[in-house]
Amino acid sequence: MSRYPALPEGLAFGGDYNPEQWPAEVQEEDVRLMREAGVNLVTVGVFAWALLEPREGVYEFGWLDAVLDRLHRAGIAVDLGTPTAAPPPWFSRAYPDAFPVTREGVRVGAGGRQHACSSHPAFRAASARLVERLAERYGDHPAVVMWHVHNEYGAPLGECYCPASTAAWREWLRRRHGSLDALNAAWGTTFWGQTYGEWEEIDAPRWSHTAVNPAQRLDYARFANEEHLGHYRLQRDVLRRTGKPVTTNFAGTVNCKSMDLWRWAPELDVVANDHYLDAEDPANHIRLSMSADLSRSLAGGAPWMLMEHSTGATSWQRRGIAKRPGEMRRNSLAHVARGADAVLFFQWRASRHGAEKWHSAMVPHAGTGSQMWSDVVALGRDVRRLAPVRGARVAAEVAIAWDWEAYWALELEWRPSGDLAFRERVDAFYEALWREHVTTDLVHPSADLSAYKLVVLPSSYLLTEASAKNLQRYVEAGGHLLVSYFSGVVDENDTVHDGPCPGALRELLGLRVEEFHPLREHESVTLTGGASGRIWSERVILERARAELRFADGPDAGHPAYTVNAFGGGTARYLSAGLSAAGLRPLLAGLADLAGVTRPRDLPDTLELVRRGAHVFLINHGPGPVSVPGVSGADLLTGAPFTGEVPGGGVAVVREETF
Ligand code: GLA
Repeated sequence: MSRYPALPEGLAFGGDYNPEQWPAEVQEEDVRLMREAGVNLVTVGVFAWALLEPREGVYEFGWLDAVLDRLHRAGIAVDLGTPTAAPPPWFSRAYPDAFPVTREGVRVGAGGRQHACSSHPAFRAASARLVERLAERYGDHPAVVMWHVHNEYGAPLGECYCPASTAAWREWLRRRHGSLDALNAAWGTTFWGQTYGEWEEIDAPRWSHTAVNPAQRLDYARFANEEHLGHYRLQRDVLRRTGKPVTTNFAGTVNCKSMDLWRWAPELDVVANDHYLDAEDPANHIRLSMSADLSRSLAGGAPWMLMEHSTGATSWQRRGIAKRPGEMRRNSLAHVARGADAVLFFQWRASRHGAEKWHSAMVPHAGTGSQMWSDVVALGRDVRRLAPVRGARVAAEVAIAWDWEAYWALELEWRPSGDLAFRERVDAFYEALWREHVTTDLVHPSADLSAYKLVVLPSSYLLTEASAKNLQRYVEAGGHLLVSYFSGVVDENDTVHDGPCPGALRELLGLRVEEFHPLREHESVTLTGGASGRIWSERVILERARAELRFADGPDAGHPAYTVNAFGGGTARYLSAGLSAAGLRPLLAGLADLAGVTRPRDLPDTLELVRRGAHVFLINHGPGPVSVPGVSGADLLTGAPFTGEVPGGGVAVVREETF
């Protein structure tokens, strides 16, 4: 991990470049414009399989040679893609059984992309053959500084239910469980009479008219993740022989539910993330921060690459909402603030054809006389000025636990409430901390937590014994932990931990839960102190813990809602109510103070403040100016001393003289 590509200097700036869609004269103009904008890295060839191998075993590299040579002459480095996310028509015709099949049994059609199953032997073989040729031809090309495998594994193709997948699944199960007895025990197959006597009896957990064994479904999610990872590794191992770093672009760290990125990150030389705003979400700049923080956390704190984001509208949301003035700049610099050493876009030039012609680009349909082009050129200048930030690290004192297995398990069928949602809880805690100007890492609950003063465990329904012990050790050693409802309930096989809930955390929290009381759709409950919660209420029985707040109404009126248990040198708190981000803010501010978390005071919650090395990023998401006392030094973006005020919608990056 962590072999950042050998780029000449400063941060990377550029985007996906698809010259194959354009005639020669436009390609010439592209390079001239890239220089004008300060582009120094482009991703080439991501969807070019049909042009590189127009017939099986027949290769045409001449056009790509010309593109790479031209870019190299202009001093622009290349992140060379392997185009396996778009198998060519000849492949689909020759191997029709490689089309993926959905859980409902629908065979995916051609004409889009990601239409081959990662487990299919013919797809794996064809991918490997092509990648061997690419590595051979371009491994030493001076323009190529890194490799970009496939595109966004898991989006939209997560689980495939084709016959090849089912065969691979049985093999995977043998490796995971060793014996049928172990599998039957892990899956609890005595329930509904599902005991297996032969491996061949086990099917993929296809759609059924009732809930399907949740342990089987969890294993299938793990299996699907490993199959995509296997397809990546196959390519990675070939490409690594060239000595150049290899990555794949994550389909939005916080948005890609189907891939367990904790398992992916160690397999990459550099973490690369794609991020697109949910245009309808008024707090989308906060979700952006969370996506960036998770990217940094996956990279183990090392610099990562923002491989794609948009200059403006996307073409795949219901409304393609253009970014407002200054928004692209704030978005890009927020990623840099949180550890990105690359600001790249999808895509360089807006396509005239195909599904994404209404997606924004660095060179828009409106051309270079447009505001967009001026903004892109200005951003290129900003990015160059941020060169001193390269390689600097962000230190977080607070962490939120993020576990894809917990995410999957919580949202399977037949839970105590269909409103239970992992992202909803993580988002609420993250937003509360963000608005309190607390920079947060996201961590796996089994990770080393010793660097954190405060850890939050948001509705982590699935929690292994090992993770629970890890949390216990963290608190014992003096850490402060906040656990939200419906955490620590089941183990890795979706089996309820022994005894009353939350079995894995009962001792640490010093309480037990006797009954869940999920709320109806429009119901809410009030806590003493006035905060109100949705979704959840439950009957908590105190053992060693003490109640700090109680339910003031609802099914658990008078009973504990927020508790604290002193454990070893630290404290473990439990919150039984679904407070909004606004409701969580005072609780988290109090906890941050108790834990000694450093955070600025008296700043509006529209100002994003992040420290990266010796630099303070100040990003003003509000319309009016904000003064920031106590920060002084040169503003890298202007070259002048920081005035002490960030204009409405503006950004300052201050190299601090003292801190
Ligand atoms: C993804 C893909 C790109 C493009 C963008 C559009 O991130 O990787 O190829 O489709 O979405 O937003």
